[in-house]
Amino acid sequence: MKQRGAPSSAFCFSSECGTAVLIATLPSLHYSFTASLVARIIIAPSVLAADFSRLSDEIHRIETAGADWIHCDIMDGHFVDNISFGPDIVRFVRKETSLPLDVHLMIEHAEYYVPRFIKVGANSITVHVEPEAKHDVVKTLRQIREAGCRAGLTLNPETAFDLVEPFLGTIDMLLVMTVHPGFGGQEFRADQMEKVRRAAVWNKSRERKIDIEVDGGINDRTARISIENGANVLVAGTSIFHSKDYAKAIRELRGVPGVN
Ligand code: DX5
Ligand code: ZN
Repeated sequence: MKQRGAPSSAFCFSSECGTAVLIATLPSLHYSFTASLVARIIIAPSVLAADFSRLSDEIHRIETAGADWIHCDIMDGHFVDNISFGPDIVRFVRKETSLPLDVHLMIEHAEYYVPRFIKVGANSITVHVEPEAKHDVVKTLRQIREAGCRAGLTLNPETAFDLVEPFLGTIDMLLVMTVHPGFGGQEFRADQMEKVRRAAVWNKSRERKIDIEVDGGINDRTARISIENGANVLVAGTSIFHSKDYAKAIRELRGVPGVN
């Protein structure tokens, strides 16, 4: 089934999206990205850090500021030690923006809730690989893709890369958690970059690339580290929503020269 929600990937596969055009138009290429294909850097602000008393305004502000996707962190109080929000808030965000919605499920039994998030407008849905997430990973990924949504898989900092490796050929995006999931505002874990590098190496030998997303503690400094290791999608909550100037924060994450 054709997947919904452009852009489907940050990677350009077609000739109409040539490297020369990308270099001319994308400030993010200021980084020395080492993947075999040129990838544009996607900035996905996490609404978890937004001011929910004026959520509509927050969504409009990040869209105007240059966000590419909007990241929605769904926590159930079981798989992680926090409860965030559910499909109703995602539906609200969907009404406020046409940007792709990147839904990160930190929940048990994802397969039960996936249809609800698809119904309210998710463009990509990422699920956890750990057994504690209590779902059949193969089935849930298939369920997401068959519904026309992009399928992502993620792993906690304590989880070995070997657990996700067998699934790489069946997903659109690997999310490398750079903090233990559950709360915003934590310190970036540089030790997770080895997983980013392994995913980037995997990408090199494949025609169909996957996006490599990082999530947790991403600021201008750790964004640079992540990109240099091969990440091309950056989730950021605190560093955007707790800043005064969202556009400046997003430009800094992209590494646009002259903003620091
Ligand atoms: C952590 C969430 C992250 C978090 C990122 O459980 O998955 O998306 O909101 O927030 P910051 O950027 O504040 O670390
Ligand atoms: Zn997240």
